[in-house]
Amino acid sequence: MSPDVLYRESFAVEGNDFEHGGNVATAIKATLRELGIASGAIRRLSIANFEAEMNVIMYARRAEFVFTITPELISVVVADEGPGIPDIDWAMQEGHSTATPEMRERGFGAGLGLPNIRKNSDEFAIESIVGSGTTLRYAVRLDQGA
Ligand SMILES: Nc1ncnc2c1ncn2[C@@H]1O[C@H](COP(=O)(O)OP(=O)(O)O)[C@@H](O)[C@H]1O
Ligand SMILES: [Mg+2]
Repeated sequence: MSPDVLYRESFAVEGNDFEHGGNVATAIKATLRELGIASGAIRRLSIANFEAEMNVIMYARRAEFVFTITPELISVVVADEGPGIPDIDWAMQEGHSTATPEMRERGFGAGLGLPNIRKNSDEFAIESIVGSGTTLRYAVRLDQGA
């Protein structure tokens, strides 16, 4: 572990596990509150975490979430095993979604998840290999006003 890592924790998320949808985002939020992280940073990161978690549940088989706090940043890496995203530019646009009618009935599929992850992050990267999986990396700076 690099010397400036103050805290690190990882979580597994299973595809199709709607029952536990949001649990990882909630657990990370609780940890950040206990650590006394500024509320604005917690809010932005929690929005991103929830969207990333639901995307794994809806579109991938499983993923590992790793979140890391350093003096400057809270960063998250979500690496999934799944179908990958054939056209990332398409998927990053607001309103673009491949959600099924069942997902839409549950209130998902507005096509705002990936754009909101980027919007609520200070650093954002997405890589995907079709037939293998997708990795999201995003981070929120700790020095923003509370
Ligand atoms: N982890 C993922 N694996 C495969 N495809 C994904 C993943 N995350 C997002 N996608 C694709 O990108 C599209 C846009 O995602 P998003 O902006 O979160 O909207 P929504 O979840 O409402 O569909 C999804 O409909 C899906 O096709
Ligand atoms: Mg989504």
